[in-house]
Amino acid sequence: MEKKFKRTLVTCALPYANGPVHIGHLAGVYVPADIYVRYLRLRGEDVLYVCGSDEHGVPITIKARQQGCSPQDIVDKYHKIIADSFKALGINFDIYGRTSSKIHEKNASEFFRKLYDEGKFVTQESEQYYDPEAKTFLADRYIVGTCPKCGNENAYGDQCEKCGSTLSPEELINPHSKLSGAAPIKKKTTHWYLPLQDYEPWLREWILEGHKEWRSNVYGQVKSWLDGGLQPRAVTRDLDWGVPVPVEGAEGKVLYVWFDAPIGYISNTQELLPNDWEKWWKSPDTKLVHFIGKDNIVFHCIVFPSMLKAYGDGYILPENVPANEFLNLEGDKISTSRGWAVWAHEYVQDFPGKEDVLRYVLTANAPETKDNDFSWKEFQTRNNSELVAIFGNFVNRAVVLTHKYFEGKVPAAGELTDVDRETLAEIPALRESLEKNIENYRFREALKDAMQIARVGNKYISDSEPWKLAKTDLARTGTILNVCLQLCADLAIAFEPFTPFACERLRKMLNVQPSAKSKGPGRVPQGEPGPGIAFPTANAPTIDWEQLGASDILPEGHQLGEAELLFAKIEDDVIQKQLDRLAAIRAEKEAEAKAELAKQVTPQKEECTFEDFEKMDIRTATVLEAERVPKTDKLLKLTIDTGIDKRVIVSGIAEYYSPEDMLGKQICILANLKPRVIKGIESKGMILMAKQNDGTMRFITPQEAVCNGAQVG
Ligand code: 2FM
Ligand code: ZN
Repeated sequence: MEKKFKRTLVTCALPYANGPVHIGHLAGVYVPADIYVRYLRLRGEDVLYVCGSDEHGVPITIKARQQGCSPQDIVDKYHKIIADSFKALGINFDIYGRTSSKIHEKNASEFFRKLYDEGKFVTQESEQYYDPEAKTFLADRYIVGTCPKCGNENAYGDQCEKCGSTLSPEELINPHSKLSGAAPIKKKTTHWYLPLQDYEPWLREWILEGHKEWRSNVYGQVKSWLDGGLQPRAVTRDLDWGVPVPVEGAEGKVLYVWFDAPIGYISNTQELLPNDWEKWWKSPDTKLVHFIGKDNIVFHCIVFPSMLKAYGDGYILPENVPANEFLNLEGDKISTSRGWAVWAHEYVQDFPGKEDVLRYVLTANAPETKDNDFSWKEFQTRNNSELVAIFGNFVNRAVVLTHKYFEGKVPAAGELTDVDRETLAEIPALRESLEKNIENYRFREALKDAMQIARVGNKYISDSEPWKLAKTDLARTGTILNVCLQLCADLAIAFEPFTPFACERLRKMLNVQPSAKSKGPGRVPQGEPGPGIAFPTANAPTIDWEQLGASDILPEGHQLGEAELLFAKIEDDVIQKQLDRLAAIRAEKEAEAKAELAKQVTPQKEECTFEDFEKMDIRTATVLEAERVPKTDKLLKLTIDTGIDKRVIVSGIAEYYSPEDMLGKQICILANLKPRVIKGIESKGMILMAKQNDGTMRFITPQEAVCNGAQVG
């Protein structure tokens, strides 16, 4: 039997404050979490929604160094950008905290100290890389060198961002410190480790036996970690940015970012509810759900639970960890360093009033079971052909016609026909499916259920054509519009978790307000309210989730508000602008990659003897005539003076040189190459070319003019 809980604590992965969030983050974590939270609130559930910035870790210190400022400056900057973009998209956490806060430092420190005092850690000495000039240990990210796989000279000690290979500093060619440029040396250091292997049997029992219902990607990853055998995991680092390790002899050491960050969920809850936080973290009546991306699975399913288990004191464990896969952009992996992303803060500036469109598209295409792709064309199509043409169009027709024929008052339902009844009867089934889907973290499917209500409405109004009946049978027109308006109210309820801004506009059009229990996002208002709610009349009737599917949500005679467009079409030029921006990034990267490739050399050929070389008769010659070989793209026919004779050579250089380029040029040729007939022309010899790795070629010419026929060797 499914366990009943009294409240739900929803956490979202704390984004690193070393850059803005992009659509991959939104689709993977924040939009689905927001849908879930809004839904639970609409159902009157007690929910706490916690997130915040992850402000420690090496990437933040690297960014600070790159930008010539302090890590604190970096996290201050990005914390604000991230928090503002969430708010703009209607993602209203009850608290969006920071792991650089005092309360968090104290918490994380005490957490470590308790485990330390109770002997829950082991210490291990190991050899780590050390910068002898900067006199500091080096995280793998601080070591750069040449990638052994692709030759990229700026590969990191843990990864090559060019070819994507996972590396270790040992594998780098010519490793050097990012700080001083010095070659790193190995130096002994001691760290504290959580012996994860001790928790393995318990993890098996809890997840592999107890949570077979978890998503298969999550369950599968956990199983493979457990089957692979867990190892002690270091929870401290030699770094100067982070929470200092609170024990003697640990100078210059901080807590590993993945030790302190998840404790941030608890700290942020405490910051919000200093007297009431424990019921959210320590009561078996609380359902804890972590929304994360797939790269966070091990930390949320293995490491953090083991930390909480080690700590004891009644901390609850997650009931589910619905981790998403990754979202790609226009067929390529999203990459912060390459700028290949759609940033949330830029989107809200470029598309004001279209926050819901992004929420909708990212949900319709959410990477729930496999990696998915975001494309601007699909974004446009989903807006124009679904939100505008189905949802918006249906609502518009219903409201406008009601104004036209009934002065904006809900007409009487009158006698319902079979079609009316069958249409209305579709909604309770869709509601049931939608509820099941959201409760089981299948947000794509849930969104389809909501959209199906609009499809049903659209078909109904098109088939019954109330605009034609108005002249002959106003009562029947009224019945049809009554049914349509009930469906509009259904849409205002069902879409609220997905497109809250549009639902607010729709409520205004229908002149209704959400009931008290489902009012507003967020149980603790935070700074600016989310979507503000203004109603045409103060005593507008309420709608709430429990009415979804009822045939009398809007009473007869109820006055509607003004009709307005729910969604607007997105034109090609708007999309083209986004595509052009990405094309420019792609072109720049391709040019860089080409230049990089051109720099590389192909390995030396097998050894040859002097005699082998002597066989080749290489000479200087001058081009007398040059023309393209008809019906070919690549071939030039060159007549040359070799000093020995005048002859013709056909050469595949037309991609790089025009006939005019070659006229009068002195070149080098292999004179005694066996003649070949190319395109019907006898070619006697070969022009020596320098061929670069990107395929481009240049002919070889003596540095100063020499006589034709001079031997090269
Ligand atoms: O992957 C990330 O972006 C991490 N900053 C997520 C941290 S989640 C939590 F545990 F704090
Ligand atoms: Zn590489």
